[in-house]
Amino acid sequence: MSVLHNSGNGKITVPDLLQRKSQAADSPSNFQKITCLTAYDYPTARLLDEAGVDLILVGDSLGMVVLGHESTLAVTVDEMLHHTRAVRRGTRRALLVADMPYGSYHADMADSLHNAMRFVKEAGAEAVKVEGGERRLELISRLTEAEIPVMGHVGLTPQSVNALGGYRVQGKTADTAERLMRDARAVEAAGAFAVVLEAVPRELAAEITRELRIPTIGIGAGPDCDGQILVVHDLLGLTFNHTPKFARQYANIGEMISHAVRQYCSDVGNGGFPSDAESYHAPQMAKGRKTIFIAS
Ligand code: KIV
Repeated sequence: MSVLHNSGNGKITVPDLLQRKSQAADSPSNFQKITCLTAYDYPTARLLDEAGVDLILVGDSLGMVVLGHESTLAVTVDEMLHHTRAVRRGTRRALLVADMPYGSYHADMADSLHNAMRFVKEAGAEAVKVEGGERRLELISRLTEAEIPVMGHVGLTPQSVNALGGYRVQGKTADTAERLMRDARAVEAAGAFAVVLEAVPRELAAEITRELRIPTIGIGAGPDCDGQILVVHDLLGLTFNHTPKFARQYANIGEMISHAVRQYCSDVGNGGFPSDAESYHAPQMAKGRKTIFIAS
């Protein structure tokens, strides 16, 4: 089966991820969890791809971690396309998913389809992600009918921050847990190939994971999901704001950048940079010649 689904060079495809989940049902001990991270630019995409991440999401979180907005709401389709193109150039193996930003799929169906197609045709995305459960049923089926694989996103959906009244854990009561389960089922029934579960109790995430035939990708949803995703800036220590408790920081690149830049400023200030070895030299001057000419 994997010969049919895999292009043979290790490229991860939508059927590969679905197959991993179905294999998990047969032999849970052999299940290979799905690794996902966000990226917003070419060098990061290359590094993640070469390190073996399965899925790269150009998340609209870029509005906050790259563009400095307070929320994701201001991000536009054009901004997302610009960053998706850069990530496309750095991604060979991983599945490339682009987030549809707020407003790009909330009004008119024809408009939503048109916007999603732009991610595929103009930026090389292999799938799109939309936030919301039951209320996205029709949209997700229309997109999948149009040959665009869709990743769902339920639980804490940051584009609903104003409606939710903040960034809070979802599904903590029996009622809201039931609604969340319905949302996850709806996303699957509509044809999504995977669903992100954000900020939900691990017990509920585990139940949804057992229930669904498509992979669940957790972020703040505990260890029992089929895969995990993090915002890469959180993982690398490149953020200025409070990071949620689920965002484990694996490196402190922010501190490394700060240190390197201070060192550079100090070296320039005291004449330590550039050195003679870091300078170009003019060719030997002809005897008696007084003028200096520019080395090419
Ligand atoms: O925008 C984003 O980065 C996301 C992930 C955190 C799931 O939606």
